[in-house]
Amino acid sequence: MDMKEIDGLRDDLVAQIADADLAVLEELRVRALGKKGAITQAMKGLGGADPEARKSLGQALNQAKGDISDAIDLRRTVLEDAGLEEQLAEEKIDVTLPARGASQGRLHPITQTLDECIAIFGEMGFTVAEGPDIEDDFHNFTALNIPAEHPARQMHDTFYLPANENGERPVLRTHTSPVQIRTMENSQPPIRVIAPGRTYRCDSDATHTPMFHQIEALVVDETTHLGHLKGCIIDFVRAFFDIPDLGVRFRPSYFPFTEPSMEVDIACDRSGGAMVIGQGNDWLEIMGSGMVHRNVLSAGGIDPDRYQGFAFGMGIDRIAMLKYGIPDLRTFFEADLRWLRHYGFVPLDVPSMVRGLSS
Ligand code: PHE
Repeated sequence: MDMKEIDGLRDDLVAQIADADLAVLEELRVRALGKKGAITQAMKGLGGADPEARKSLGQALNQAKGDISDAIDLRRTVLEDAGLEEQLAEEKIDVTLPARGASQGRLHPITQTLDECIAIFGEMGFTVAEGPDIEDDFHNFTALNIPAEHPARQMHDTFYLPANENGERPVLRTHTSPVQIRTMENSQPPIRVIAPGRTYRCDSDATHTPMFHQIEALVVDETTHLGHLKGCIIDFVRAFFDIPDLGVRFRPSYFPFTEPSMEVDIACDRSGGAMVIGQGNDWLEIMGSGMVHRNVLSAGGIDPDRYQGFAFGMGIDRIAMLKYGIPDLRTFFEADLRWLRHYGFVPLDVPSMVRGLSS
């Protein structure tokens, strides 16, 4: 290229750049200044020219290169500014429009009930213990003094999983009582825990669902006795139903893992058709309880000659239905938003195992 050609090329490119859009601009840049671009190639070719010409041609090429890239930068700025202006004009916000209403989420009644239970037992000094939903036969049955072939196993309508490599069939825990064993295995008395969680039985009607929730309590110490059990349960149900003089009745019963065992009833009135808690002359069963059987203490690695304890367990869904007047258990698990808006709760201002301790 001679001087004239360099100037011509520069003028031609600068003119095109002035009209280019962003895509064309990039094409022009590659055509002039890219690896195989005209200016780049011409610079490479300088080596062949004689020294005098090389100097002046080199200067001219450098000048042309600078002019072209200045023109490109200028054009790009102009195009981008214009684009921004256009966007701003299009996206004008009408700040006078009315605000969209924010809809507030609701806590499921089970979450609410669980929070209430944990708050009440927390005040009494209980901590929360947990165990797996998929249990082994030992923790769900055997350690709880329910040996193989014991009729109590049938009462539970257990869901069994396929056998593992040892030929044992894991179960979906039929109650939260296995957490008693796991807690005893992992700690020493004094023990004071509650164990809320999911439980499973092969059963389904208006008051039974295959998955439901229980809350278990376990207290073990050297001098724990039946009076403690009764006081603890009476305090809990009165606090939970918020009826300070709620009638509570302990009725002899049988569970393999407690001795003696008692069913706990609360006073209610069924005479008007609907159930009213805390009035009338009727009784409603709400939980199972008893003094921990010595075989259970032994199975949990605790000396039954030195320690004794009490335990009780109840259905969370059931006490939620009673407290909040929800007639059908199955609706708890249908995930119908209209139902949740009706029966749901705004959060309690207490720590929650479900929602996290800091909320
Ligand atoms: N696990 C028993 C049930 O599911 C309830 C219970 C718990 C009874 C603890 C006594 C002691 O029915």
